[in-house]
Amino acid sequence: MRILIAGSTGTVGRQIVAQLVSQGHSVRALTRNPEAVLPGAEMVVGNLTDPSTLADAFDGVEAMHLISFDGGGYQPLTTGPQIVELATRAGVKRVTVLGGKDESGVEQALHDSDLAWTVVQPVEFMGNTFSWIPAVQAGVISEPFIDRRSAMVHEADIAAVAVAALTEDGHGGQTYTVTGPEVLTVPEKVEILSKAIGREIDLVELTEAQAREKWAADGLAADIIDFLIWAYGNTPEVGYTVVSTVEDVTGKPARAFAQWCAENAPAFG
Ligand SMILES: NC(=O)c1ccc[n+]([C@@H]2O[C@H](COP(=O)([O-])OP(=O)(O)OC[C@H]3O[C@@H](n4cnc5c(N)ncnc54)[C@H](OP(=O)(O)O)[C@@H]3O)[C@@H](O)[C@H]2O)c1
Repeated sequence: MRILIAGSTGTVGRQIVAQLVSQGHSVRALTRNPEAVLPGAEMVVGNLTDPSTLADAFDGVEAMHLISFDGGGYQPLTTGPQIVELATRAGVKRVTVLGGKDESGVEQALHDSDLAWTVVQPVEFMGNTFSWIPAVQAGVISEPFIDRRSAMVHEADIAAVAVAALTEDGHGGQTYTVTGPEVLTVPEKVEILSKAIGREIDLVELTEAQAREKWAADGLAADIIDFLIWAYGNTPEVGYTVVSTVEDVTGKPARAFAQWCAENAPAFG
């Protein structure tokens, strides 16, 4: 079965490609970057904001993974209906889509289609921890709202749920919330990471105003800062409620944050 993966070079897409390749599937990886290479995948260049660039990508494809945002500032894609039309005409049967904060035109077009669609809706990615690398190297993490709780999920588990939905029957018409196996506060995350890298890390709580100032100085766009303040200061219940989707769908327990830290410790220098 040939499977087309959009967002293939991203945090989640890269894991989907690797898992499908290791299962022996024929994977076509969509990217805007003509230089991109992913082991075992056929690369195809196209831009989801311009469906006229996607005609070749769909040739012979039976299943497809989609993203719902455009790389330019994570705005919702507005080309959902055209992409779904191309997929339908090409004979695609199953489609997964990585859900963001709000539903986009991609999910809406899938709901209106005859395709067997599955929305994979993760909570906070464990991979966001990479943003702590400079702070960890400096020995002190500065964050607002440190008592916030998160059921953060390993990217490989988000991918494993998508892989099941792309390759097995029975997942059509489902929206799967995907979480990790435990709820952690920021001090608990820092302690787990500190153990994995074998070094003390200090944690300092910032006020909202201090966090805004710091993130602006770090170069974050104003709308991303607003989003982070909202997500950290008012985490919706779904963000700190463990669900059993990973085990239910994949048959394997969700990976813990300690495992993520052990796998990625070298990146923290
Ligand atoms: N981070 C979190 O905690 C979190 C939690 C829940 C949901 N989410 C959602 O997850 C999504 C982000 O996923 P991610 O972190 O895996 O993404 P990412 O690492 O930022 O990667 C973005 C990927 O999308 C591709 N892409 C972007 N715009 C494109 C376009 N116009 N045409 C074709 N490809 C395009 C990029 O491909 P090229 O650059 O190779 O072209 C790249 O492969 C967002 O929707 C976010 O709302 C994130």
